[in-house]
Amino acid sequence: MTRLTMEFPDFGLTPEQRRHAVRGHYYEWPGMDGERGEIWCYSDRFSYRAGETATLRVSSTAPAFKMAIVRDGGTETKVFEKSGIAALWQDSPDQCSVDGCGWEASFEFRVGDDWPSGAYRLTLTAEGRDGKPIHSHHLFIVSPQPGKKPGRVLQVAATGTWLAYNTWGGSNHYQGVTGPDRNQYSPIVSTQRPWCRGFVVLPKDAPRVPLEVAVQPKTVPRYPHMEWALATGHSKKYASSGWASYDSHFFRFAERAGYEVDLASQHDLHFSPEILDGYDCAVFVGHDEYWTWEMRDAVDNYVERGGHAARFAGNFMWQTRLEDEGRRQVCYKYRARAEDPAYRGDDVTRATNSWEAPEIGRPGSATFGLNATRGVYAGWGGCAPRGVRGFPVYRPEHWAFAGTGIYYGDLLGAESHVYGYEVDGLDFEIRGGLPYPTATSGAPDGLQVLAVGMASQVEESADIPIEDQFLTDHDGRFTAETLFGEASDANLEKVKRGNGMIVNFPRGKGEVFHAGSCEWVAGLLRQDPMIERVTRNVLDRYLGKA
Ligand SMILES: [Fe+2]
Repeated sequence: MTRLTMEFPDFGLTPEQRRHAVRGHYYEWPGMDGERGEIWCYSDRFSYRAGETATLRVSSTAPAFKMAIVRDGGTETKVFEKSGIAALWQDSPDQCSVDGCGWEASFEFRVGDDWPSGAYRLTLTAEGRDGKPIHSHHLFIVSPQPGKKPGRVLQVAATGTWLAYNTWGGSNHYQGVTGPDRNQYSPIVSTQRPWCRGFVVLPKDAPRVPLEVAVQPKTVPRYPHMEWALATGHSKKYASSGWASYDSHFFRFAERAGYEVDLASQHDLHFSPEILDGYDCAVFVGHDEYWTWEMRDAVDNYVERGGHAARFAGNFMWQTRLEDEGRRQVCYKYRARAEDPAYRGDDVTRATNSWEAPEIGRPGSATFGLNATRGVYAGWGGCAPRGVRGFPVYRPEHWAFAGTGIYYGDLLGAESHVYGYEVDGLDFEIRGGLPYPTATSGAPDGLQVLAVGMASQVEESADIPIEDQFLTDHDGRFTAETLFGEASDANLEKVKRGNGMIVNFPRGKGEVFHAGSCEWVAGLLRQDPMIERVTRNVLDRYLGKA
């Protein structure tokens, strides 16, 4: 559980450094550690099946390194160790984030037949130029073999979002060194590069995005996670995405709670949708923002045929495309209508814009019941920094809440702060003290709203001078334009007040449960008994145990 502080934490930065931590563009790049030397690693794919060969591409200032591989689950199990592996420094192109690093293969190994599906963490260690050790971390997924998996859960890691936020090489879908002035985010990002620092492993005291600060009156927002990132040499986006901040907390909880869990990447879902077929329950967690059309088809067809999808995640926002056998992820985002070739091709439904753009015709709610453009920020910056920390519950009698002891009007998960930092919602109305989706909300038939909290798409306060705004009204204006054609004040007014929900609905022979918040996993990390109980209620029902 979390304890509120009265002041923002101090990581020893000057005011200028604090400003740079939030507004600046800092990232991992080959050569960044200068005289100390470096070692970096990536694999040719995000995931492998047992028996397949993994290829590592390593660049190091040291001539040799040692490597350990650990399965990172409910317990940690070392599966491989080797020293004296030869390395060399490999040049990277300037736009390596976009085009890939193109390094030569350094080491190959066979994924053991006895390596259970899950996440495998690599630690590479070598000697720096000053004699001190240098390290890097990498992660790959061992995905399950095909076939029936009675009683097992399949967790699909949010690898599309990892890729979108990966700062390694300077460009991602947020900021970048791309474009004529080397100052634009890149609509294309490559899988062929290392993960940024903090995506694979983090110290326990790394701040999460939502504030654990009792924000005093008229306080200019601060961002402890980005200050910590700059102060400790982690990625600016370590708290926005990655295995360490998000997906790992569900996986470890589920194994410790006695569930048998397999893990797959979103690439597996895209290229091998049949991977879902063997399971009674598929789970999606964390910050889960980027999906392809094909991934949605996989989930929709699975649920239609009788599968159960449980999403404990937020921000179902952007359509992406995968190219070059999955080595490139494309997402034009804010620039889609101007630049995405899909608008000039024959199928605009594949445009890499918000799922709620009318020309795509496939709002997120059609798959998971909620829309990103009706949700968004809570608990940080100038967006509800004093808002609810848990989900306000309206239908405590629902099966998902059995055994929690929760009441109407209670906050579910406030103690562990599960509500934020991006949430998904629906347009709704209150009748007789209960929330219902509006007729134009896009809610699937039979959807029940179990909990609703407030969220905001804009930073709007007389207490935040414009130069201190980080989120601003940029996303709100974009949503206004995307949904209504123009980024006017009148349209901003229609979209700026969002919400975050827990919903449940049937679909075909199957069912969907969706707690639409990135931070649900914080409740599992912090061992919140009510969040654990709701998670178990959902898994048990979907596995046919309850
Ligand atoms: Fe996001």
